[in-house]
Amino acid sequence: MTTETDQKSCCKTCCRPWGITIFGLLIIAFLIAMPFIAGEPDAENPSDLINFLGRFHPVILHLPIGIFSLIILQEILAMFTRYKPQPGLIAIFVGAASAVAAVLFGFMLYMGGTYEMSELLGDHLWGGIFFACAAVLTLIVKAWPLQEKISNVLYRVMIFGSVGIMTYASHDGASITHGEDYLVEYAPNPIRELLGHEPRVKTGPSDKPLEEQVVYADIVQPILNKRCVECHKEGKSKGKFRMDTYELLVKGGKEGEGIVPGDAVKSKIIYRCELPEDDDEHMPPESKTDIEDHELAIIKWWISAGADPAKTVAQLEITAEVRDAISKLDRSVDPIVDKSTSITETKPVGPSNDLAKSVASLSKDFPGGLTFESQASSGLTFTSVSLRSKLDDQVFAKLQPVLPSMVAMDLSSTSITDASVKLLASAKDLRMIRLSETKISDAALDTLAGLKNLESVNLYGTRVTDAGVEKLKSLPKLKRLYLWQTDVSEGAIGKLKEALPGLEIIKGI
Ligand code: HEC
Repeated sequence: MTTETDQKSCCKTCCRPWGITIFGLLIIAFLIAMPFIAGEPDAENPSDLINFLGRFHPVILHLPIGIFSLIILQEILAMFTRYKPQPGLIAIFVGAASAVAAVLFGFMLYMGGTYEMSELLGDHLWGGIFFACAAVLTLIVKAWPLQEKISNVLYRVMIFGSVGIMTYASHDGASITHGEDYLVEYAPNPIRELLGHEPRVKTGPSDKPLEEQVVYADIVQPILNKRCVECHKEGKSKGKFRMDTYELLVKGGKEGEGIVPGDAVKSKIIYRCELPEDDDEHMPPESKTDIEDHELAIIKWWISAGADPAKTVAQLEITAEVRDAISKLDRSVDPIVDKSTSITETKPVGPSNDLAKSVASLSKDFPGGLTFESQASSGLTFTSVSLRSKLDDQVFAKLQPVLPSMVAMDLSSTSITDASVKLLASAKDLRMIRLSETKISDAALDTLAGLKNLESVNLYGTRVTDAGVEKLKSLPKLKRLYLWQTDVSEGAIGKLKEALPGLEIIKGI
């Protein structure tokens, strides 16, 4: 009996403290050596496994924070009240073990290559390592059965030291993920200033009338603030790109300038947002709510118009669509143009600049479909090649704002009907149109008969008849008419040729 108890207490007094101490010191040595052994992260060839494990860092790190917060609360109570709870060895053990695990996973997150080394990241890395080491040392101290007074003092020093380092390390960590400004972002200005931050200027809804609003400051930057700035700002500039001021927005990041004034399509911020949502480079990244089409349309409009930081809405030419888009923003703007009529009634004002904007914003719906006839021309050509049967009346209606500039349109093999052709009444400059293999009928030819600049019309494989084709007599410039696979009779063709001697009719057999 006695020997057994002796053995047990011997084990308690010698073996366990020694065991914990030796094991603990080995871990401390490993943690400190780790950054030196591992070297730089290889961002070029990231390992999936390392990245997978690394992402457990944010899951685990709250465990040591919680445990050590509880331990220090107990210690403070013990110091100032008569309540003397004793945190068991097990609590400190789990606290220290989870701190070590958080550091290991955090280090893998860093080695995964998604974070760039910065002063803040270096501080956080070493802060984490020192915290884990201090936590292990606390465990070692607690493991030795020392004289109560000495033990208490040592333990308190260790525990307060650990929690101090922990606070520092976790603040740095939070600054890396949320940005340095995170905690004070919405703090009242006196508190912000006290902590050495600039006072916050509200960029909320502007109460100025729309025409007087500065496009960049009152409209564009608030959109960026809402969608992008949380990851692209001071202390958290992903891709080394900050979007919180005009200069930095233009300057761009690792890949070059963020915006190219006058050229929305070449602008990185537009390019990234227009990538397919499942593209790794799509912005904002999948975890965040995507930017809305109307928000993007506004930014594109502003960039196409020269991306001037000071110009007001009145100084840029605004289309009905943009006005509509602005009114959709979450802010108080009175939509000057009634929404229900804006698109149908208002043609883009002003020449090419405005048109370029509309074309740019339509390029998403019609990839590669809309192009300018030439650099010098404001005439547009359209081809449905990429859409074909997907192009129906509803989709076609989106082209309405640019139809007046259209000079050539290939609508063959699409699903459009007479209803779409009706919209073409505004395409007064149209010279060439292909409607082959569509569902159009004679009714469509009523519209075409009004387009006096038409030179070439392709009606191959449609339901048009003699009665319809006859109406094309009114087209003075018509040179070529394709009527393969239609029911148009030789008689009707003869009459048409009589009326328009220069006309070549391609009928086939
Ligand atoms: C959740 C965080 C997050 C949000 C929100 C976010 N980005 Fe990014 N952005 C990143 C990360 C991470 C990178 C670096 C990786 C990369 O290049 O894809 C990056 C890189 C970029 C780059 C490339 C910079 C360069 O030169 O390398 C551009 C441009 C960009 N973002 C634009 C945007 C725009 C525009 C928005 C808002 C619509 C936005 N981002 C919102 C995280 C974010």
